[in-house]
Amino acid sequence: MSHYYRLGKIPHKRHTQFRKPDGGLYSEQLFSTEGFSSNSSLLYHIHPPTMIVKTEEPVDVSPKAASENILKHRSYQGFKIKPEKEYLDSRKIILFNNDVQLALAAPEGDLGKNVFFKNADADEIIFVHVGSGVLKTQYGHIRFAYGDYLVIPRGCIYQIEFDTTENRLLIIDSFSPIVFPKKYLSKYGQLLENSPFCERDIRVPENLETIDEKGEFLIKVKKKGLLYPIWYGTHPFDVVGWDGCEYPYALSIHDFEPITGRVHQPPPVHQTFDAHNFVVCSFVPRLFDYHPLSIPAPYNHSNIDSDEVLYYVDGDFMSRKHVEKGQITLHPGGIPHGPHPGAVEKSIGAKATNELAVMVDTFHPLNMTNDALSIEDENYVMSWAE
Ligand SMILES: [Fe+2]
Repeated sequence: MSHYYRLGKIPHKRHTQFRKPDGGLYSEQLFSTEGFSSNSSLLYHIHPPTMIVKTEEPVDVSPKAASENILKHRSYQGFKIKPEKEYLDSRKIILFNNDVQLALAAPEGDLGKNVFFKNADADEIIFVHVGSGVLKTQYGHIRFAYGDYLVIPRGCIYQIEFDTTENRLLIIDSFSPIVFPKKYLSKYGQLLENSPFCERDIRVPENLETIDEKGEFLIKVKKKGLLYPIWYGTHPFDVVGWDGCEYPYALSIHDFEPITGRVHQPPPVHQTFDAHNFVVCSFVPRLFDYHPLSIPAPYNHSNIDSDEVLYYVDGDFMSRKHVEKGQITLHPGGIPHGPHPGAVEKSIGAKATNELAVMVDTFHPLNMTNDALSIEDENYVMSWAE
């Protein structure tokens, strides 16, 4: 995230004396995800953000590969992932490699009043498929609803509170910074006219709530696949102001403006986010190709060096049969794939689609977990046979 933003009270000059009403100094904290070499923000706390009062042994939450067979088209029924009462318990990793982890979650509730989460391993994109609520952070609050991508830089302490008990999330953990695709950015970082979304679509934190409380505040910190319980003596949301270019934000898939053409446009026109060795794309309702002989269905393609994961959100998918909400298909690099039998002819003459989906393409093979196996549709690999 490269756009400057500020909220609350901050001193005129960075790294200078900034005093509370009682004369004491506020505690300045630099927050970044790539050392001092990239974007950062400066936060001003009432209390130092370092006051650990208790720690316990970590718990292993790292994903384990359930099968060595990675060269097979697969499909998973995402809505079959079982709901859990608590947000962190609900996150079930299904696919993973060294660059990215994909999890499904059906949380019925949040973390608890004085419990917080910090993912120190990965930037997160939380795609909200079902449910609404508020993401609470040190930077302020972000309200969310169906269709939102919540982008949370690694290290950002947060709570997620739901208005609803029925919630469905797709969570993408990225071990490199989540950025907007370079092709959409000016050389100075502004989103260009040819970008499918712009700064107006990005929702930044608001309602900065400063909580000056002492007690025991549990931050569950994920690092190298272990979840560490660490208690602090002051409330982590004691920030009176901050500014900079590193902070969580929301972007709705419904604000993504599709790029269309006379003939079929390739998947990169749907790209929304970029990261090291994978991309995230949004397939949104759009008019179909308007050449008089155009074929709206995609052509078969050999994704020889990328795994394609498609998460179906809503609408009819013209290239697939028997698609359900929350269904995931995995087309691994190495074997070509394309429309299902009959889908090409059927697509001819169609003027528009109301499909909504999120795609993650990874440039290294994905492994699947037992949670993925438990929701797999084993017949999918044969679904092209006529
Ligand atoms: Fe594909």
